[in-house]
Amino acid sequence: MAKVKKVFACTSCGTTYSKWTGQCNACEEWNTIQEEIVVKETAKQEAKNIWRKGTKKEKPRPKKLAQIETGTTQRKETHDGELNRVLGGGIVDGSMVLIGGEPGIGKSTLMLQLALSIKTKVLYISGEESEEQIKMRANRLGKTPDDCYIMSDTSLANILMQAQLLEPGILIIDSIQTITSAHIESAPGSVSQVRECATEFQRFAKESGVPVFIIGHITKEGSIAGPKVLEHIVDVVLQFEGDRNYTHRILRTIKNRFGSTSELGIYEMQGIGLREVSNPSELLLSQKEEDLSGSAIAATLEGIRPMLIETQALVSTAVYSSPQRSATGFDLRRLGMLLAVLEKRCGFQFVSNDIFLNIAGGIKVNDPAIDLAIICALISSLEDVSLPSNICFAGEIGLSGEIRSVQRAEQRIQEANRLGFEQIFVPRFNMKGIDQKNYDIEIIPVGKVEELYNILFA
Ligand code: TYD
Ligand code: MG
Repeated sequence: MAKVKKVFACTSCGTTYSKWTGQCNACEEWNTIQEEIVVKETAKQEAKNIWRKGTKKEKPRPKKLAQIETGTTQRKETHDGELNRVLGGGIVDGSMVLIGGEPGIGKSTLMLQLALSIKTKVLYISGEESEEQIKMRANRLGKTPDDCYIMSDTSLANILMQAQLLEPGILIIDSIQTITSAHIESAPGSVSQVRECATEFQRFAKESGVPVFIIGHITKEGSIAGPKVLEHIVDVVLQFEGDRNYTHRILRTIKNRFGSTSELGIYEMQGIGLREVSNPSELLLSQKEEDLSGSAIAATLEGIRPMLIETQALVSTAVYSSPQRSATGFDLRRLGMLLAVLEKRCGFQFVSNDIFLNIAGGIKVNDPAIDLAIICALISSLEDVSLPSNICFAGEIGLSGEIRSVQRAEQRIQEANRLGFEQIFVPRFNMKGIDQKNYDIEIIPVGKVEELYNILFA
């Protein structure tokens, strides 16, 4: 009889312990250690050999770097330009891609759309939805290709067997948390199950050359075995994010063994599936008729993709003795810092004001170059002076009120130019190498917040 082996695994980072502890030493999370039962290695090995028969390869030998041929890696282009972009130019044969994201964000939709549009045989495994449900969704998406196979199953052994028999061009697993290996006793979605199943799919991908896409859920608390455990195993990690109250979704590359991680894909969720958004700025600039105070446009960069985003501030008289500060899509502490700079360095008074800050479109911006636009929106609302809608800003604010240089200023200027803006304010330090003659847009260098104030509001 197989000896029962127990381990204690952290559900957040996957570290295993021989006994229970309250806090994980590796990721420092509390109460994430859970008991898991694993089965003897030999039983597992036997099971693996069943489906791996016939794929036995010669044992690998070390090769000289010069002997290794390149250019043999094949990439399959998909019909989805945004997906191609985040994957670094297409799907690499034998690669394993993890799509992570919160429930309901559109992971299954994205993968089904891929399955329906790509010109190769696809096996789509769903452990969450019935075959009929998937068919209904496919009908909604408006396509029924004849080379797309659907199977609703959760057994790892059967999935791998069917995949071997069918020999698809792509295998899609929705989702890894529902798949169970019979040789691990813990529940589906637990760290050891997820790790075991992912390792098996990885082996399948490498041995057969079939690219495997796996979907992984993350909850807000990260309570089920989150993709952290998987990130080490897979080749590419894509994160699908967005605010469910808004329609646009961002597909971000977190890890990519075959390309850059600064890529970003943008989609819009519509009634008939996800639509690629090749021109994000037009989506993110709110459509308004007249110039209102408290609004400024930032020329930001997400990864390497320029986007013009509207920032909105509302500065109003505080009702209670402790004024409110609220920010959507922007770090509240950074807002506090910007307010402190405006008070201390530029003499504005915000102590008796409630402040609400909003980045249009529910987008979360990490680019520090958005600071300048936020400051302008705040001053504009405080002074109740509206800014013209054809100007935009890029610049980071330092603690002494100086405007610090931003990366890839030229790209931002180009994007603003392309969208027909008439003026862009950029840090003085970025002006080296930028020639006004190349652009229709007027480039205005600024060094301090006071300077900007004098140009715009004085
Ligand atoms: P889904 O792909 O099931 O999310 P996930 O797999 O990440 O949990 O899609 C979730 C939402 O997308 C669902 O609430 C409905 C919406 N949706 C549309 O708005 N339009 C569509 O065409 C489809 C298929 C889904
Ligand atoms: Mg789903």
